[in-house]
Amino acid sequence: MNAPFTENDVLDNPIDQFSAWFENAIKSGIKDPFALTLATANKKGMPSARVVYMRDVTESGLVFFTNYASHKGNDLLENPYASANFYWEDLSRQVRFTGRVEKVDSGESDDYFNSRPRESQIGAWASHQSSKLDGREELISKLDKLIEKFEGKEVPRPDFWGGYVIIPTTVEFWQGRESRLHDRIQYERNENGNWALSRLSP
Ligand SMILES: Cc1cc2nc3c(=O)[nH]c(=O)nc-3n(C[C@H](O)[C@H](O)[C@H](O)COP(=O)(O)O)c2cc1C
Repeated sequence: MNAPFTENDVLDNPIDQFSAWFENAIKSGIKDPFALTLATANKKGMPSARVVYMRDVTESGLVFFTNYASHKGNDLLENPYASANFYWEDLSRQVRFTGRVEKVDSGESDDYFNSRPRESQIGAWASHQSSKLDGREELISKLDKLIEKFEGKEVPRPDFWGGYVIIPTTVEFWQGRESRLHDRIQYERNENGNWALSRLSP
């Protein structure tokens, strides 16, 4: 049976609360705790969702890295709001973030890019993420050319690749409980930047 998650258990700030749950997820050894489903929408309101890895949690929010010219990148250019959802099945927990999305500083993107394996760095150059390919060979031949081009050199970060931070205005913590009587505690940021708590019906 899952332990209760109540208004009395929560920390004042949802980022701190998320960090506590996330640390617990890591310690529990569950599969892919970093994976979140990211939902964006274009200016017409057409939604799209995909999984990305969260790479950092900062005071501002959740950081992930991607291709700025991808489908999600174009959505975020047209409509800089997103929702991010973590589902940790083994812990019967779900966390949902909703908020504005901004690019991180180029220095932060450089640091992360430089920490990646060389193959991933070259892969970032090779993939015009979300664009149509004539076939897999097109990608492989592009990669081969880039391996040659960068031979013996450091691979710089492409300017079309980098990080985004999701700055939440609402964060909901969902703890599965018996008989569908799940605990749902939501933080909402008000105009003065303070967080208000509500319990939501399951
Ligand atoms: C477990 C998992 C982790 C992923 N992590 C990332 C990631 O961190 N960044 C990324 O750009 N794509 C990641 N992807 C690929 C995305 O799901 C997606 O296919 C890609 O970003 C293109 O999405 P878009 O066309 O909607 O922009 C991941 C996929 C999976 C299944």
